[in-house]
Amino acid sequence: MSRYFIILLLLTFERVSAQEAVSLLCEQRTNPEGIDVARPRLSWQLSGDQTAWQVIVASSEEKLAKDAGDLWNSGKVMNDKSVLVGYEGVPLKSRMVCYWKVKIWTSKGVSEWSKPAYWSMGLLNAGDWKGKWIGYDQGFPWDSVSKFSRLSARYFRKSFAVGGPVRRATLYIAGPGHYEVAINGKAIGDQVLAQAPTDYTKSVSYNTYDVTKECSSGQNVLDVVLGNGRFFTMRPKYKPKKIKEFGFPKLLLQLEITDEKGGRKVIVSDTSWRMTADGPIRSNNEYDGEEYDATKELGGWMKPQLVEAPGGRLVAQMNPPIKVMKTIKPVAIKEGAPGVWILDMGQNMAGWVQMKVRGPRGEKVTLRYAETLKKDGSLYTANLRDAKVTDVYTLKGGGEEVWHPVFVFHGFRYVEISGYPGRPGPGDFEGQVVYDDMADVGIFQCSDTVLNALFRNAWWGINSNYKGMPVDCPQRNERMPWLGDRATGSLGESYLFNNGLLYAKWLEDIEESQKPDGQLPDVAPAYWNYYSDNMTWPGVYILIADMLYNQYGDDRPIREHYASMKKWLRYMSSKYEKDGIITKDKYGDWCVPPESPELIHSKDSTRNTDGQLIATAYYYHLLGLMRHFSELLHVSADAAEFAGEIEKVRAAFNKKFFMEDHYSNNTVTANLLPLYFGMVSDAKTKVVFKHITDKIENDGGHISTGVIGTQWLMRGLTMYGRADLAYRIASNTDYPSWGYMVKHGATTIWELWNGDSADPAMNSQNHIMLLGDLLTWMFQDLAGIAPAAPGFKKIRMKPVFPAGLDFADCTYNTPYGQVSSSWIKKDGKIGWDVTVPENVRAEIFLPDGGVREVGSGTYHFEAKSKL
Ligand code: BGC
Repeated sequence: MSRYFIILLLLTFERVSAQEAVSLLCEQRTNPEGIDVARPRLSWQLSGDQTAWQVIVASSEEKLAKDAGDLWNSGKVMNDKSVLVGYEGVPLKSRMVCYWKVKIWTSKGVSEWSKPAYWSMGLLNAGDWKGKWIGYDQGFPWDSVSKFSRLSARYFRKSFAVGGPVRRATLYIAGPGHYEVAINGKAIGDQVLAQAPTDYTKSVSYNTYDVTKECSSGQNVLDVVLGNGRFFTMRPKYKPKKIKEFGFPKLLLQLEITDEKGGRKVIVSDTSWRMTADGPIRSNNEYDGEEYDATKELGGWMKPQLVEAPGGRLVAQMNPPIKVMKTIKPVAIKEGAPGVWILDMGQNMAGWVQMKVRGPRGEKVTLRYAETLKKDGSLYTANLRDAKVTDVYTLKGGGEEVWHPVFVFHGFRYVEISGYPGRPGPGDFEGQVVYDDMADVGIFQCSDTVLNALFRNAWWGINSNYKGMPVDCPQRNERMPWLGDRATGSLGESYLFNNGLLYAKWLEDIEESQKPDGQLPDVAPAYWNYYSDNMTWPGVYILIADMLYNQYGDDRPIREHYASMKKWLRYMSSKYEKDGIITKDKYGDWCVPPESPELIHSKDSTRNTDGQLIATAYYYHLLGLMRHFSELLHVSADAAEFAGEIEKVRAAFNKKFFMEDHYSNNTVTANLLPLYFGMVSDAKTKVVFKHITDKIENDGGHISTGVIGTQWLMRGLTMYGRADLAYRIASNTDYPSWGYMVKHGATTIWELWNGDSADPAMNSQNHIMLLGDLLTWMFQDLAGIAPAAPGFKKIRMKPVFPAGLDFADCTYNTPYGQVSSSWIKKDGKIGWDVTVPENVRAEIFLPDGGVREVGSGTYHFEAKSKL
């Protein structure tokens, strides 16, 4: 790279009068209904650099229009905050609808008031709930409550009259596991698989809908259907110690109607409702599939029972609902055995297939789902373990029928269809991709087709595994929210999906799973009772709070979870710390290649890394984050305590694991962790790093790390000047490597480096834990987009330009707006285009070592390049 780096052009936006603020968000959502945050935080985007702002919040649209902020008028506030600005008005009460707008002063002048936005408050007090929990706490004669449970959906119905035109009608509903709700036959909302999964003994989320338009004067009918979800677990009576059970699905509902004359009517769930389970959904089970009999009319109505509440407190669901986010068309359909068709979606995905079918009443179509095919073209289901993943649809006859399941999802690329009347064509099926309603926020493209394929496969893998919580896989009999898989994954994912609210919710799940002594599990919500004590999996609690702060500027998770995080760390140190070393680890460097179960715990292996080294290095790193958090919260006594512990651990770690010029058994992971976490003395840094690079080079640029090492690998190599080697690893297509997966037909990311030949007992084709820090590296290092201040209020733009990579082109939507970085090598020069969002500053790291600070705008830089 030339030492001469010239700034060619500097374009800033024209100074016109300030435009109004746009993209108004409350608690990071657009016009949210039924929130339960006492001091909601408001955000907006603008054009220009903000110098002051004013927010007005009113109890009606009319008042807001008159600039009368009866709830809050902030007055003109002189600062540049435009993200997560805390509400400071009168205390908010249950059911309030709050209308708000914002005016901004910027370098370009003063804006008009923004267009109005609103939020509504949920039911904040237990006493607000007048509804009763209803259900039926046993199976029906056609159900089977066994290991492979078959439980039919429960249908509830209530008729009610409304005296006159409706001013506002609000529906509050909790229906664990899943519910569907309709008024007068019209489905409410476009969410699916509602509501968010939790440990229902700790909390039960409820959803709020504005149903003013759906309620009409006269007779109305309210219909609710309940499915099992995670409430009635997929494998009851199986391993009682391992699998948590919650009971049979149940409903709590409250519909509050105010008419034009101010009259109020409340419909609540109680024994005046009718109920039946003898309806079309004969069975639903997330592992095994759904059976739907369209010939069945709802019959056998009875009164529901009053049932015990699930136990958890009712909380408003603040994370986005799950929706059908995308639809795709099959790429092929082929007949295998006579009458058995194999549909190829061309893509491993999570969701379901919607089917169109015509045929005689009573015909049954069976759909079985799988990720891959056997050599003979039939479904390969061995890696699904005992999940049956089979939907059955019974036709009612008499015309075209369109169907998809509603209470289950599947992870699949192929569908085997049997019993289809006539000859199915690809147009009869549509893949509906189901995940949490979060926007795409980042695009990365470069000159390397392997990296581009990995980015694409990661996008599919990540969305497949967002289901109201991050799960490990969507297909086999597992689908569990394993903590360790997301340690740095969550950060990389945040460059692709706006995942802040999902992860904030997950931290609540983790906190709820904490035992009184501080212990945390490896899976949260703790649907599986795995409390095995290790630093790496539960450590995610602290790592994700840090991610949310850096990526979204959200400090609430740190504030709210600080005490529980500290309690966990203290639990671990008091139980397992001996002279500065953490003596307990569970998973090692999980999934080190070549994967073989014996390697995981073997001490003398040259590939695996000592569990105590891993645990102690993570402990050190987590202590550093906790010290940072304690400083942020001004808990200076804790900060001093953490600082003391950090020194002690570093000394003990080096004493025990440092061997002249490398760590422990000299694996990449053993050397990388202390190096990346800053535990190595300056004098030894070079030599330790050389062991890492020598090993990778001798290995032909292959991966030799598992889930743990790979979390820091790409950034570690780049940080110490070997972006070229990181790039070599990323673009490699021989085993073991990410590219090997691509070369062997993967359309997502595999659970194992040898996913094409591994034992089916543990061989998901759609896991994302092995991504490690690959995505973070693409965005932060190749494109050079990293937060220099929380929430990207300031951006560090420091790309690397590895030999062999000709261009990189990237955009990312920060909370302030879009940042972009696009560079290309051409004719011995590098051209670099940068856009810095409004109200943000950026540090631009020029390849000659110079640093410039710039404000929002579009810039072009050029430099001579030998690369
Ligand atoms: C899961 C992983 C998990 C691991 C830990 C596997 O079965 O699929 O995602 O982290 O177990 O034991």
